[in-house]
Amino acid sequence: MKKSPDWNTLYGAVGEELPWCVDEMPSWFAELVDSDWMEPCSALAVGCGLGNYAFYLAERGYTVLCLDRSEEAISLAKQKNSHPSLRFIVESVENLTSLDEQFDLVYDISLLHHLKPSARDDYAFQLSSLLPSGGKLMVCMFSEDEPRFGKNYEFMNPVTDTITYLLEKEELLRIFEPYFVFDKLEKIPFDNYLRYLCLMRKK
Ligand SMILES: C[S@@+](CC[C@H](N)C(=O)[O-])C[C@H]1O[C@@H](n2cnc3c(N)ncnc32)[C@H](O)[C@@H]1O
Repeated sequence: MKKSPDWNTLYGAVGEELPWCVDEMPSWFAELVDSDWMEPCSALAVGCGLGNYAFYLAERGYTVLCLDRSEEAISLAKQKNSHPSLRFIVESVENLTSLDEQFDLVYDISLLHHLKPSARDDYAFQLSSLLPSGGKLMVCMFSEDEPRFGKNYEFMNPVTDTITYLLEKEELLRIFEPYFVFDKLEKIPFDNYLRYLCLMRKK
């Protein structure tokens, strides 16, 4: 049976040992932060987990609102990554428009592949509503081209014990192109898996 991830139980049981809770930034992220595409600004981290990426950005001049549906993750994030430039909020991406706030940059690292395919269109719309024209969106998620996952675009994630939904390039274009222009859509090695990195600007 397909289950919704119980993120609170996971964070409560495994906490900082969860495989994505890395202290050292992956090279693709450090290089992106150093690139011309990024500059210190007001950002929203969607599905922030422990906020490790946000902390890295805060140390480089960004202000970041860190959002996650898991109270346990946000509690751990506040303990671990407290910084004057970081705020934390427990909220689900289904309610992003309730934020009533605009950002220069919104980023999602490894959340999109946990959303059911039927939730993707609304997610793209809600992300776009938080950005002004020209505002930036960065999304990074598992790609369909990861041979260990097979070719049915769904796999049982042994860490979260739930179905994870792989995305293909055509699907990314379909959900985001109504609102965004792509600056980059490429496969990158990340954490021993092939992922898509999407850099976009709101139309
Ligand atoms: C694989 S973790 C990645 C966390 C973080 N981005 C990182 O890379 O360290 C996915 C995160 O998305 C959060 N999440 C999943 N579904 C969500 C939803 N519908 N709304 C908000 N957060 C969600 C989970 O609680 C979890 O912290």
